[in-house]
Amino acid sequence: MDLPTDDEIRALHERFAPSPEAFDLVWTHCTIVRDLTAQFPAPEADPDLVRAGALLHDIGVYRLQPGEAYIRHGVLGHELLRSVDLPEVLARFCSHHTGVGLTRDDVLAQSLPLPPEDYLDETPSETLVMYADKFHSKSTPPRFVTIESYTRSVGRFGPRKAERFAELVARYGEPDLESLARRYGHDVH
Ligand SMILES: [Fe+2]
Repeated sequence: MDLPTDDEIRALHERFAPSPEAFDLVWTHCTIVRDLTAQFPAPEADPDLVRAGALLHDIGVYRLQPGEAYIRHGVLGHELLRSVDLPEVLARFCSHHTGVGLTRDDVLAQSLPLPPEDYLDETPSETLVMYADKFHSKSTPPRFVTIESYTRSVGRFGPRKAERFAELVARYGEPDLESLARRYGHDVH
């Protein structure tokens, strides 16, 4: 499969970002998530797919309208990538990285503003990008997130999510956040 290069993906970010600030925030986060994926043992994942998926997973953030629920950025990114003829296998990284996977029951039980479907990682590459994404936040200011602090907050995505996160931690291990924090100048908490 012909996947876009880093430069092509960066150009897509520049094209869809509504402002240089939005570009800087989202592109930096996506490069950090790509860097994080490289820290985890995932022999079954496809490295090139993981790279492109990590760099693209949050591109839907640019499509959020004022007041629109943040959780919609996944499906918006999926639509965006399909609209520029990128393949479904890449678009899925957008719609399938939220929390530690959302089920149709989560969508219905929490009245999430999403089509009632499963948004679960289905391949080793999708699981890896979803997991790596948990360790950096586009908060103001952006920061790295420890296992402890993500575990404290994961409950907002529904029951049993802490359990799934613990399974992922057991599978992939703990990232080295300090070296990335120094490189990007973001705090860890
Ligand atoms: Fe993300």
